[in-house]
Amino acid sequence: MKKFIENCPKVELHLHIEGTLEPEMMFALAQRNHLALPYKTIREVEDAYHFTNLQSFLDIYYQGANVLQTEQDFYDLMWAYLNKASEQNVRHAEIFFDPQTHTGRGISFETVINGLSHAKQDAQHKLGVSSALIMCFLRHLSPEAAQKALDEARPFRELIFGVGLDSSEMDRPPVLFKDVFHRAMDEGYIPVAHAGEEGPAEYVWEAIDLLDVKRIDHGVRSIDDPNLVDFLVKNQIPLTVCPLSNIKLHVFEDMAEHNIKQLLDLGVCVTINSDDPAYFGGYMNENFLATQAGLNLSKEDLYKISLNAIQASFLGEQEKAQLKSALEEYFNE
Ligand code: HPA
Ligand code: ZN
Repeated sequence: MKKFIENCPKVELHLHIEGTLEPEMMFALAQRNHLALPYKTIREVEDAYHFTNLQSFLDIYYQGANVLQTEQDFYDLMWAYLNKASEQNVRHAEIFFDPQTHTGRGISFETVINGLSHAKQDAQHKLGVSSALIMCFLRHLSPEAAQKALDEARPFRELIFGVGLDSSEMDRPPVLFKDVFHRAMDEGYIPVAHAGEEGPAEYVWEAIDLLDVKRIDHGVRSIDDPNLVDFLVKNQIPLTVCPLSNIKLHVFEDMAEHNIKQLLDLGVCVTINSDDPAYFGGYMNENFLATQAGLNLSKEDLYKISLNAIQASFLGEQEKAQLKSALEEYFNE
């Protein structure tokens, strides 16, 4: 099963590029940019990566992002992820970035987007991995700050595919960001949002009803509302589930308790993704392996989850058809 999962063609739909900053790169960039870190050794970093909930992670994650200063830094980060993705047979990735995390400390939007975009282009040509960028608004900040980020993105409109919503979920309902999401949609961005990770099923409804999202990121708390589950199934609104993230942030205490298999069996379009792999103990292969082992997923389950990811992606119909036939061929071998 290990080899089978590793060699399987994959699509990743929930990945924060800032969450791919490995401790080794954090040290290298700190040195290159003459910055002090609160850690002296990799061991100290690993010791700090014991999270109790989403907020305890976010505090450390935003601190880590401080080492990203130049266009080259953003290029190196994106290039390293796309190489890793290629090694793990990820054929396509839809990648979040958090512009406000950088502009808020004096790094220009242009620096961020140029570094990410150049690596994205190089990965398409040199590795054959396609990708799309989704800029997330930080929900712990104000809707006005999100609007400012949207304004700053305007000169780079054609480089960014969608908008998302991330960061602290509790007491920050999607409704707060209704206006900025509608302005983004008027500009042609495709909307997605994190909802129902720690927050209630009600926030998933709000993201669908008020923000018009095409996918829900996480969404595992949807299980608490049978009407919502029904709606997700009928309308095939995908959930980008991140199993190792959920364990690390104590959304579920143990993989055996994770509800992805239950959601799959109910007919929800669930997918497996890595979220912040440098912080949560693994990329796509590690997420698939841990989920398969914890929930005893069959090859049929893995096929359906992989097919869901292709269907849930924002690829064109032709690219989807190509990936589907590659998947079918792989499972029929
Ligand atoms: N949830 C919310 N915000 C985030 C996450 C997450 O899992 N990862 C990075 N920012
Ligand atoms: Zn996320």
